[in-house]
Amino acid sequence: MAARIAPITLDDVEGFHAALDGVARERRFLASFEAPPLDAARAFVEANLHEGNPQFVAHEGDRIVGWCDIKRSVRPVHTHCGVLGMGVVADRRGAGIGRALLRATLAAARAAGLRRVELDVRARNGSAIALYERMGFRHEGRKVAAYYVDGVFDDLLIMGLVWPEEGAAG
Ligand SMILES: CC(C)(COP(=O)(O)OP(=O)(O)OC[C@H]1O[C@@H](n2cnc3c(N)ncnc32)[C@H](O)[C@@H]1OP(=O)(O)O)[C@@H](O)C(=O)NCCC(=O)NCCS
Repeated sequence: MAARIAPITLDDVEGFHAALDGVARERRFLASFEAPPLDAARAFVEANLHEGNPQFVAHEGDRIVGWCDIKRSVRPVHTHCGVLGMGVVADRRGAGIGRALLRATLAAARAAGLRRVELDVRARNGSAIALYERMGFRHEGRKVAAYYVDGVFDDLLIMGLVWPEEGAAG
């Protein structure tokens, strides 16, 4: 079944929460080991809708199998920047869903006037790094041993994608 990529709505909150929780519980990819409470996930989605932050989900039938969001920074000197988060449920990876989600969300971010998208990724997360590189993200930095999970250290990579031309000053 081909996934349908669409902007998130409040009807998607429970499915988004379930997908996020499943990926978090894998412990290998995200900064948390479980999703926040459902109310917090709903508040996150409501804020994104209210603030015009792009968030897309991948639907397969009644199931949400992935998400991608870019949260615009509120600090006055960083309002052209957004922080990206994404995931695809384990049994649906490698089918093009992550790429489709990322493409849609980046296009919406650019259309919304963002000029920079940044993210953190674990150095061992080769799939995500390869995807981000393919979509134009550059490596910007590394925090050594920033993660310690289940007795194993990992580095944190900082990656960024910049569309400077439309926002260039002077
Ligand atoms: C990273 C992730 C979102 C990619 O989603 P996906 O649907 O599996 O990826 P796609 O099938 O769309 O593949 C897109 C590209 O990602 C890369 N990729 C995907 N799976 C890969 C793998 N197993 N090994 C290497 N590269 C891989 C490739 O560049 C691929 O392009 P290609 O097929 O042309 O080579 C998904 O693996 C995931 O959810 N991982 C766990 C959560 C996570 O890491 N979130 C990001 C935290 S920073």
